[in-house]
Amino acid sequence: MFSEKIMNNLQSSSWIRAMFEEGAKLAAIHGADKVYDFSLGNPYAEPPKEVLNSLKKHIDQKGLYRYMNNAGYPEVREKIAQALQKESDIQLSADNVVMTVGAAGGLNVVLKSILNPGEEVIVFAPYFMEYNFYVDNHGGKTVPVSPDTSTFEPDLDALKKLISPKTKALIINNPNNPTGVIYSQEKLKQIREIIVSKEIEFGTTIYILSDQPYAEIVYDGFQVPSILSIFENTIIINSFSKSLGLAGARIGYIAASSKIEDVNLLVSALSFCNRTLGFVNAPGLFQMVVGDALEAKVNIKDYKAKRDYLYDNLIRLGFECVNPQGAFYLFPKALIEDDVAFVKKALDYNLLLVPGSGFGCPGYFRISYCVPMETVVNSIPAFEKLAQAYR
Ligand SMILES: Cc1ncc(COP(=O)(O)O)c(C=O)c1O
Repeated sequence: MFSEKIMNNLQSSSWIRAMFEEGAKLAAIHGADKVYDFSLGNPYAEPPKEVLNSLKKHIDQKGLYRYMNNAGYPEVREKIAQALQKESDIQLSADNVVMTVGAAGGLNVVLKSILNPGEEVIVFAPYFMEYNFYVDNHGGKTVPVSPDTSTFEPDLDALKKLISPKTKALIINNPNNPTGVIYSQEKLKQIREIIVSKEIEFGTTIYILSDQPYAEIVYDGFQVPSILSIFENTIIINSFSKSLGLAGARIGYIAASSKIEDVNLLVSALSFCNRTLGFVNAPGLFQMVVGDALEAKVNIKDYKAKRDYLYDNLIRLGFECVNPQGAFYLFPKALIEDDVAFVKKALDYNLLLVPGSGFGCPGYFRISYCVPMETVVNSIPAFEKLAQAYR
């Protein structure tokens, strides 16, 4: 038979896929416009014009379709380094940057480069469940830290207890999927203090993996604090899947802080793992495109209008929810304890949601509002019926 581990993973990782399949069934019965599919974090908006213009400019560029340095085109890496340097106080150059196949590819490359078997990677719940598989891919163990559910920032006492001599990395996903919450500068500085004191206690180095594909999607003037400026051992993993609506183009990067000891060796390891994991290098044409479109982003006002509409209506209907400052998700409390039963009930009203259990945080559910405004508006009566079912 096939790999036992993968067969088990297929069973346990199927929430979003199960919802996707339910959605297809419901759409076949009721018509797609009567189904409110909030299950996928797949940006429906087209990429900004800068992307399309750049594609036209580069499409017939000579030599663009050859093999290249496994780290990617130096001129694009240099542009990314300069942009990151501007928003932090850290000197960076092309030598700190490796272009990757999205953030998912980048995370796998980083984890492969740093983990020894049995080492631990701390994550803040609720979290993007794929981390479990990525960490496991490279022999590590994921250690979730529970949140303070009044803010959905991590519980720092829990963090202190869970750091061990085996802790190799901490993943910070800011703004967070699935809550949309941005961890504040103050909270991040407190986390730094804990990390530094544990590093001294155990004589270890703990890398901060800043997984930040939503960093450009923020509302109400909120700023995402610069992880590079706060933590010495920062490795940024970013992608253009969300900020430029390029999820299918598979383009992102890793940037390792110059403050990391032996950073050149680390970057060599990253390049090597990009190659040997079989990515070889990030898609060449799209490296050029993101280099040209670094300043561009999708329409944030459009996402904000959807967040406001959904949030205001959910509160009116009696849901409890932290108002998110970024990303395109809401994470309200389910109206019963059993979030899985709640999400199943929602299907009766053609609402496709994802249970909090799918993010290591039962009792809640995720709404992904990267859908047309029409879907948002038309879904409200369905949420109303769902709320009534529990009154
Ligand atoms: C928190 C988080 N990290 C990483 C990824 C993977 O992004 P990419 O499409 O760039 O691989 C996602 C995608 O949804 C995500 O939500």
